[in-house]
Amino acid sequence: MRNLTESNLTEAVLGKLEGATDARLKQIMTSLVKHLHAFVREVELTEAEWLAGIQFLTATGQKCDDKRQEFILLSDTLGVSMLVDAINHRKPSGATESTVLGPFYVSGGPELAIGSNIAEGVPGEPTYFSGRVLSTGGKPIAGAMLDLWSTDGEGWYDVQLKDGNTLRARGKIKTDRDGRYAFWTVKPVSYPIPTDGPVGKMLLKMGRHPYRPAHTHMIVTAPGHEPVTTHLFVEGDKYLESDAVFGVKNSLVEKFVRHEPGTAPDGKRMDRPFYTVQHDFGLVPV
Ligand code: BEZ
Ligand code: FE
Repeated sequence: MRNLTESNLTEAVLGKLEGATDARLKQIMTSLVKHLHAFVREVELTEAEWLAGIQFLTATGQKCDDKRQEFILLSDTLGVSMLVDAINHRKPSGATESTVLGPFYVSGGPELAIGSNIAEGVPGEPTYFSGRVLSTGGKPIAGAMLDLWSTDGEGWYDVQLKDGNTLRARGKIKTDRDGRYAFWTVKPVSYPIPTDGPVGKMLLKMGRHPYRPAHTHMIVTAPGHEPVTTHLFVEGDKYLESDAVFGVKNSLVEKFVRHEPGTAPDGKRMDRPFYTVQHDFGLVPV
């Protein structure tokens, strides 16, 4: 293993994996080395570009802390998160499609009664979500849980605000005996993913915008079924075709119907305009 050259270096590195005892690790590292070397050859990487890459990855790591995961943002913006999601969640018909989790999920949202407002006091336009959770066979699921989170009406998640430790626009709602759920929240708005780090700079250099189309997040779980991590998007949003993280699926885009002040579907008197959204979720039995 001396005098390695452009033409035999890859084989030499791959040969070093002979002693790997974990077969899956060996498969992954073999493929990674092959693709990395092929990439370097294809673009004929210069030393300055190699160093810029190292510095970019270093800055990405340095931007991470217990509230910020810049590597996940990198994966999201390069479409890797959605590719991993697609490979790992090949769904049968009737199943709700999954999409990216994103960095703003916080476990421990309060469990609230069906019909509650998960965004009490949060700025934004009132919106009433309702529908059912069904098994893909069509049977309603009683006791399914919707773990919900959203930006406020200005596009900020609670964890991004100064007082980032107060939970806002988050909550868990359980379906009733007929598999029905309902809750109030604020109408989501489109917002930019964080751009104050190396990933933001990368987007700018790639000539891309950082916006996500308006959406409400949920993880839907039920005993005996595969959980689904997903969103509902607002029909008509101008970023549906260019989501910065490639997460939009047609089946997740819903009409947010605007109503003038009056009586809401749950009988509540509304003194300002409000929106209603209806959506049924389908879970795959395990
Ligand atoms: C989000 O929807 O919360 C999100 C997803 C990926 C990257 C940044 C934000
Ligand atoms: Fe989001």
